[in-house]
Amino acid sequence: MRILIVGHGGREHALLWKLRRDAPDAEFFATRPTPGMAPWCEAVEIAPTDVEALAGWAAGHRIDLTVVGPEAPLAAGIVDRFRQRGLSIFGPTRDAARIESSKAYAKDLMRGAGVPTAEYRTFTNRDGAVDWVRAEGAPIVVKASGLAAGKGAVVCPTEDEAIEAIDSMLGDLTFGEAGREVVIEEFMEGEEVSVFAVCDGRDYVLLQPSQDHKRVGEGDTGPNTGGMGAYAPVSIADEALMAEAGEKVIAPTLRALAADGCPFTGFLYAGLMKTDEGLKVVEFNCRFGDPEAQVVLPLLDSSLLDLVRAVAEGRSIRGMDIRARAGFAVTTVVASGGYPAAYEKGVPMTVPDDFGDDVILFHAGTAERNGSLVTAGGRVVAVTGLADDFGSAVERSREGARRVTFEGAFHRTDIGWRELARIRAD
Ligand code: AMP
Ligand code: GLY
Repeated sequence: MRILIVGHGGREHALLWKLRRDAPDAEFFATRPTPGMAPWCEAVEIAPTDVEALAGWAAGHRIDLTVVGPEAPLAAGIVDRFRQRGLSIFGPTRDAARIESSKAYAKDLMRGAGVPTAEYRTFTNRDGAVDWVRAEGAPIVVKASGLAAGKGAVVCPTEDEAIEAIDSMLGDLTFGEAGREVVIEEFMEGEEVSVFAVCDGRDYVLLQPSQDHKRVGEGDTGPNTGGMGAYAPVSIADEALMAEAGEKVIAPTLRALAADGCPFTGFLYAGLMKTDEGLKVVEFNCRFGDPEAQVVLPLLDSSLLDLVRAVAEGRSIRGMDIRARAGFAVTTVVASGGYPAAYEKGVPMTVPDDFGDDVILFHAGTAERNGSLVTAGGRVVAVTGLADDFGSAVERSREGARRVTFEGAFHRTDIGWRELARIRAD
């Protein structure tokens, strides 16, 4: 079997890591792999968003299955194009990917389907947006409707900050086209959980719940990032909460997308908040989470390939289930100095040859220059620790992150703090 992975971040490294375990005899290919992925796959020198070139390449190289990591190629219609050419691919079509690529679309879909989420309004004009902020008061949340690499949501403690965010999105176009339309929503309070569903358009299978750490600083302070670390499973996401997520969020969303003429095939990512009024959706994404993939996939004992392949080949996954190994996974992201704002690339870095058992190094933004490893992104690596108890998983991940060194490197040392506090309180 010949499998192509589109993308080359930490999430795609984790997908490759898992799919290789599921299919040791398969041949793997990946777009522009990092030095972390490169030993395990053949490189395809095509950008993930060059949908036309990738479809031609996959057809010419007899690829049996393509798995897409990032949202950009999905929003660009990679699945539509591959299917037109009769190629098996796992991911949502461009229309179904609007669940992420247009927050306005996602909110309207949720409203129509009765999926619990924050109250909101959508605006393209400043005055209407400002009036609504004045009427609602703060705290309030201003979001660019389009794709903004996880950085398009601004939680505003005051009305003035909300108006500043509106001006920067609609006026200064700080998020480019993505911010020509803004969604302004009610501020919700509660703990967040990331839930991933493998979907075949109709039915779904839930993977283990995880929790991301989106803020750059210790204790969840500072600006939002793509994610500085994650852990799985999450004790507050117990069986009852997962059942609620399936029945009140995933199932009605899949029905609404199908009724809209765009059944969702692929990983549906529900960012959920456990509020006093029950579970509410913070956001949907049309792909796996990063760095959540780096904790959910190492804990997945049963085959991901079986699920992904069934969906890509248009078969039903009804009745299929997953089996997770016991224990915990924690991942810590090592980032470049300055991230999520401007940072340097091409900084020489060192990683230990051997992290020891139960530690996995996933490359996110790395490259090779003259035979040496250098940084090539804001998030550079994610170090996952696995253990039977949560505290040891935290320690393995943190200690692993400490051993990855380059000028300006930093990481959060408090990944999993909420879970640790719960354990200590028991
Ligand atoms: P998003 O890009 O929509 O995932 O938002 C990024 C982060 O901003 C979320 O993970 C939350 O921590 C926060 N956030 C987004 N929307 C809300 C909301 N309505 N109320 C409170 N926090 C929010
Ligand atoms: N970890 C957040 C995301 O993948 O969007």
